[in-house]
Amino acid sequence: MILVTGATGTIGSHLVPLLVDSGAEVRVMSRRQGFRADFEDADSLKRAVDGVDTVFLLSAPGKTAEHDLALLDVAQHVRKVVKISAIHTGTPGFELTSSWHLPGEEALRSSGLMWTILRPTTFASNALVWLPQIEAGEPIPSYCGDGTNGVVDPRDIAAVAAKALLTDDHDKQTYTLTGPQLLSTPQQVEILSEVLGTTLTTIDISPDQARVSMLAQGMSPESVDFMLKGFEIVRNGGNAVVTDHVERVLGRPPATFKDWAQDTLNTLAAKS
Ligand SMILES: NC(=O)c1ccc[n+]([C@@H]2O[C@H](COP(=O)([O-])OP(=O)(O)OC[C@H]3O[C@@H](n4cnc5c(N)ncnc54)[C@H](OP(=O)(O)O)[C@@H]3O)[C@@H](O)[C@H]2O)c1
Repeated sequence: MILVTGATGTIGSHLVPLLVDSGAEVRVMSRRQGFRADFEDADSLKRAVDGVDTVFLLSAPGKTAEHDLALLDVAQHVRKVVKISAIHTGTPGFELTSSWHLPGEEALRSSGLMWTILRPTTFASNALVWLPQIEAGEPIPSYCGDGTNGVVDPRDIAAVAAKALLTDDHDKQTYTLTGPQLLSTPQQVEILSEVLGTTLTTIDISPDQARVSMLAQGMSPESVDFMLKGFEIVRNGGNAVVTDHVERVLGRPPATFKDWAQDTLNTLAAKS
């Protein structure tokens, strides 16, 4: 039995069908549907891991470390945990990402359980936050200048997770999961223009403008500082990383941002 946490989320929603199609017995955890459990309700978590052999551990942004540790606390009987972490976890200069994911990574590595840790970079699906501007024909805000990310398709993250859950081939491995190419926001927007057959533009937002706008939206000063730090890192080339880890696990190259955009945005357009 495989427990999938975050089953209704970005990666989980792609992972569950892969596991079911493979014939695995899957317990889908959510606060709203399937097996109802909450990382913040220890009794519900104990019920969720009861009779489970393997866990896919994905904690949503916010209380990531707290949720990871709560799950690991009740999962000492399971054989293996595959944890979603994030690129640069544990690297000096990336203290915020590390504060979310390092406690869970360290607890898992020292738990005595089998483990695989997946550290994805920026998801292709983050581009969905641009939908309002795309629909309104407005320029897309660009916060990181020409800074690039190795944008990864969440479907590839799910496919790698499935391999790690279903085989022993990736035990005790830490993978940094990226797409095949480095892309800046303007380059991503150019690809979206091509896919949607329209001309989309970007507008550069300076750190000062970003700060004013995020505070006006009600974000806390701490969250604003965190976001600005992330933008600065990308702007200065600090996330310009591409690895071959997806290909190593899947035996095929990772999907491009264009692949993701074609499949996702055209489906969304057809629905609207
Ligand atoms: N986005 C990126 O570019 C990026 C890059 C690197 C790493 N990551 C990491 O990827 C992970 C996923 O991020 P995401 O933004 O895509 O999230 P997501 O998968 O959309 O996360 C939401 C999921 O978490 C579940 N959830 C939230 N709070 C819960 C709780 N208290 N108890 C039980 N389940 C709960 C939700 O389930 P229900 O609402 O159905 O209960 C939902 O399935 C995070 O750990 C993040 O740090 C993201």
